[in-house]
Amino acid sequence: MWEELPLWPEQASTVAGKVDALYLFLVGGSAVMSLIIVALLALFAVRYRRRSKADRSGAVNESLPLELGWTLIPLIIVMFVFVWSSALFFHIQRPPDDTLDVLVVGKRWMWKLQHLNGKREINELHVPVGRDVKLTMTSEDVIHSFYVPAFRVKADAVPGRYTSIWFRATKPGRYHLFCAEYCGTKHSQMIGTVIVMEGDEFQRWLGGEVAGLTPAAQGERLFANLGCNTCHKPEATGRGPTLVGVYGTAVEMEGGERVTVDETYVRESIVDPRARIVSGYKPLMPTYRGLIGEQGLMNLIEYIKSIGPPEGGKSPAVDSPARAPHDAAPGAAGLGPALPATPSSEPS
Ligand code: CUA
Repeated sequence: MWEELPLWPEQASTVAGKVDALYLFLVGGSAVMSLIIVALLALFAVRYRRRSKADRSGAVNESLPLELGWTLIPLIIVMFVFVWSSALFFHIQRPPDDTLDVLVVGKRWMWKLQHLNGKREINELHVPVGRDVKLTMTSEDVIHSFYVPAFRVKADAVPGRYTSIWFRATKPGRYHLFCAEYCGTKHSQMIGTVIVMEGDEFQRWLGGEVAGLTPAAQGERLFANLGCNTCHKPEATGRGPTLVGVYGTAVEMEGGERVTVDETYVRESIVDPRARIVSGYKPLMPTYRGLIGEQGLMNLIEYIKSIGPPEGGKSPAVDSPARAPHDAAPGAAGLGPALPATPSSEPS
C-alpha cells in the first residue's frame, strides 16, 4: 500500500512489508511524540508569558501518578518495539532450512557470485521468484555490504569471515543491488542488479549454458592439487584428521575446547592452521594463506560440506569407511589417489 507514495522503495520480498511496518511505527511514533511536545511548548509559552494574567496558584511540584505515568508508558512502548524488532531481526538473520544457496565474494569494486551448479555471475544475481535464497558472503579485501533495498536486506561482506543473508523474492523484475559500505574510490560504482525470474525461466537460465564444475567439484580438484589428500585421508590414518563426515559436527581441540566445524572454522584451519589443533594431532600443517583465493576457499568448504554428514548429522564414515559419499558433479572422483593430478591452478 505504501508503494504508491513517491520515493518509497518497491517492496519485493517477504520481509519488505514487515520491515516497513516497523519503520513506519518508529517514524510515526516519533512524529506523534514530537508534535505533542512542540504543541504543549507553544501552548504554555503563550499562556504563561510574563504579561498574561493566567492563574498561577496551585502549581504542582510533585505528582507520583504523573511520574509513574511518564516512566511506565514509555517503558511499555520501548519494550514493545524491542520485542517486535528482535523477532524481526531473528527472522531476517536465521535462514530457513531449504534454501537455494549462492556464494558471494565482494571485491573492490565488484560482486562475484557463484551458483551451486557452477554458474558464475558478476554484478548480477538471477533468482527464482517465491523461493528462499541464501547468500554466503565474504570479501577479498575490505568490508563491503550487500544491499538490495527492494528486499530490505543488507549484510556486510567481511574479509576472513562468512556472513549470510536470505530472502524470498515475491515478484519478478529487476532490482538494484548496492554496496552499502564505503570501500574506496569506486564504491559508488560497486552496483548491480538482482533479476527475479519465474521458476521455469530461472531453471532454463541456470542450465542455459555449460555451467562448468560445481563449487564442490572444483573444491575437490583443488583439494587434490594442493595435496591436502596426502594428510587428510578418507579414513583416520593420515597425519591430519579425516575430513569425511566432520562438517557440522563438534570437534574436540587440544585443550578441551569443542568447536563446531562451520564455514569460518574450515577457513581458519586453512589460512591459520595452528590457531586451533584437533585433539590428538600435531601442528604440522603449513598455512595456505595467500595461496588460495576467496572463491577457492569457498569451493574447498563446499567440498568439505559435500563429504560432511548427510541430513540428520550422522557421520557417513561410520557406514561406509571405504568411500566418501558426496554430491559433487557426476564424474568427480572420491577422496584419494584416483583424482586427476593436473598442475595446481587456482580458479579465480
Ligand atoms: Cu564495496 Cu562499497
